[in-house]
Amino acid sequence: MNTSSQLCKLINVDLGERSYDIHIGRGLLQEAGKLISNLAPKARCVVVSDENVLKAHGETLGESLTQAGIEFSTLAVPAGEKSKSMEMLNSVVEGLLDAKMERGDLVIAFGGGVVGDLAGFAAAVTRRGMDFIQIPTSLLAQVDSSVGGKTGINSPHGKNLIGAFHQPLMVIADTDVLKTLSDREFKAGYAEIAKYGLINRPDFFDWLEKNRDGIFSNGAALIEAVATSCQCKADVVKEDEKENGIRALLNLGHTFGHALEGATQYDSARLVHGEGVAIGMVLAHQFSNRMNLCDMDTVNRVEAHLKACGLPTHPNEIPGQLPPAEKLLDFIAQDKKVSRGKLNFILTKGLGQSYIANDVPSSEVLSFLKETLET
Ligand code: GLY
Repeated sequence: MNTSSQLCKLINVDLGERSYDIHIGRGLLQEAGKLISNLAPKARCVVVSDENVLKAHGETLGESLTQAGIEFSTLAVPAGEKSKSMEMLNSVVEGLLDAKMERGDLVIAFGGGVVGDLAGFAAAVTRRGMDFIQIPTSLLAQVDSSVGGKTGINSPHGKNLIGAFHQPLMVIADTDVLKTLSDREFKAGYAEIAKYGLINRPDFFDWLEKNRDGIFSNGAALIEAVATSCQCKADVVKEDEKENGIRALLNLGHTFGHALEGATQYDSARLVHGEGVAIGMVLAHQFSNRMNLCDMDTVNRVEAHLKACGLPTHPNEIPGQLPPAEKLLDFIAQDKKVSRGKLNFILTKGLGQSYIANDVPSSEVLSFLKETLET
């Protein structure tokens, strides 16, 4: 390990025989070859990535694999959500078969959430399941999508509707690569970090408020924030790998957020996922207050922190026209199960006291949305 390795953190996702480690720290891309050859000494690899990531970091990863004596080839997919399609899945699977990948060889998902979801799903279905490694290069992927084994693609019916739970063999999160992210992408990933504090770790939220500068300047606090986020996620996934219960807590802010993403036709010029989550988390707290569950001081504190981080906190910050409240409610109803006019939501009783509510009246949500869109 290089000299910065004192700053490396190791988190274990404890899932019995499917357990794996998450390595977090600076300069880990240079160490990837060693880490991979220790884990799977004879494996050949196919690196699945996108053109932007390969341009910025492909050479570093390639050198590290070569130095470790790993034979590998590369498959590049276009950057962006459109690559989470059946056509692209087919092209990646055929690419793996063309490369004569066998069971025991490794797929390396090297990129943000899109690449991780697509490559992970391709690994899940090729030869009835190949091993894969996540090397996430966006903040959002490092703290959320690369951990926990959700893989998949989109259908015309909706996001992530085709997929599989397929846990990686290891996750390598090099926080140095986050330096090449745009400001907007970094902030959007941060929303998922704040989410963990708001789910059930008020102490972590406190710490985030105090360490914002260190996190946003890619200091040691960023490694700590990524590691704590991964630990929070690992704890939840250990309890409920297949989302039969508490894993749904990870969707805090996502119900309103997904509705806003749907209402903007997933146009990233207007709204990216993390921004939708930031607005959604504020709305979830405001709505909880309206339902007499959560005090207004908590709502104000959450809103103030996300604002201070440069994230949007109200739907009226989304450029362009939004559809009326009724249409947003339709998006929510599509996203979540509805039964006799009741919706499923993640609500909160205070800072870091989120819970799964299965009985939220859609009429209350509609009134709240109408009031919100008018302010
Ligand atoms: N991103 C939510 C989950 O992994 O369950």
